[in-house]
Amino acid sequence: MSVETSAPDDDQAVRSSRTVPLELALTVRDVGPEDLVDLEWSGGPSHLTALAEAMQRGFADETALLMVTAPNGVVVAVGGVDFTRRPSSGDLWMLSVRGGWQSLGVGSILIAELEHRVRSRGLPQATLSVEHDNPRAEALYRRLGYVRTGTELDSWPIGQGRSYATVCFTMAKKL
Ligand SMILES: CC(C)(COP(=O)(O)OP(=O)(O)OC[C@H]1O[C@@H](n2cnc3c(N)ncnc32)[C@H](O)[C@@H]1OP(=O)(O)O)[C@@H](O)C(=O)NCCC(=O)NCCS
Repeated sequence: MSVETSAPDDDQAVRSSRTVPLELALTVRDVGPEDLVDLEWSGGPSHLTALAEAMQRGFADETALLMVTAPNGVVVAVGGVDFTRRPSSGDLWMLSVRGGWQSLGVGSILIAELEHRVRSRGLPQATLSVEHDNPRAEALYRRLGYVRTGTELDSWPIGQGRSYATVCFTMAKKL
């Protein structure tokens, strides 16, 4: 992780900036019922309902739902793995990094931990799907070793009885 710094605003000072490494002790752990209130930044009521359902299915070992917290306890990312959606695979989904915390490596840390959960189950691959118009996320997944395997229509509830449907690329990574 790194941050930009700049010299103090001084008439004599030459303006400059440089990148210095920033080490942060992030924690990754399972989401508990008490954590849902701290995840409101990640989506609307339908999304929170989906997170609650994912957590509920975790009690039956069908899913794992993880979150990343900063040293001060602020939740900066959430994501899950569904062990039932695709055969011989853990399917990563609902990946979300809090605004202001993106592009710092947090998503990569979360994905690595989710892959660890998949491997721990003895499953040989991780899969995920990414919306066709989200090239930045797709580029990240490629960098992490995922390759495109197909195209599918996905949809999820957005409240008031309505659903959002979109075309997604499916991706997979051998673990
Ligand atoms: C997509 C998403 C989950 C990725 O998480 P992230 O924390 O931003 O991802 P990372 O920081 O690990 O990697 C992404 C970027 O950070 C850079 N990066 C990774 N580690 C870094 C580090 N230590 N220091 C600086 N930059 C780093 C990568 O090069 C990459 O570059 P990019 O900004 O050009 O894409 C997150 O951005 C997000 O929630 N986006 C909005 C919702 C979304 O699109 N969800 C995906 C649904 S499939």
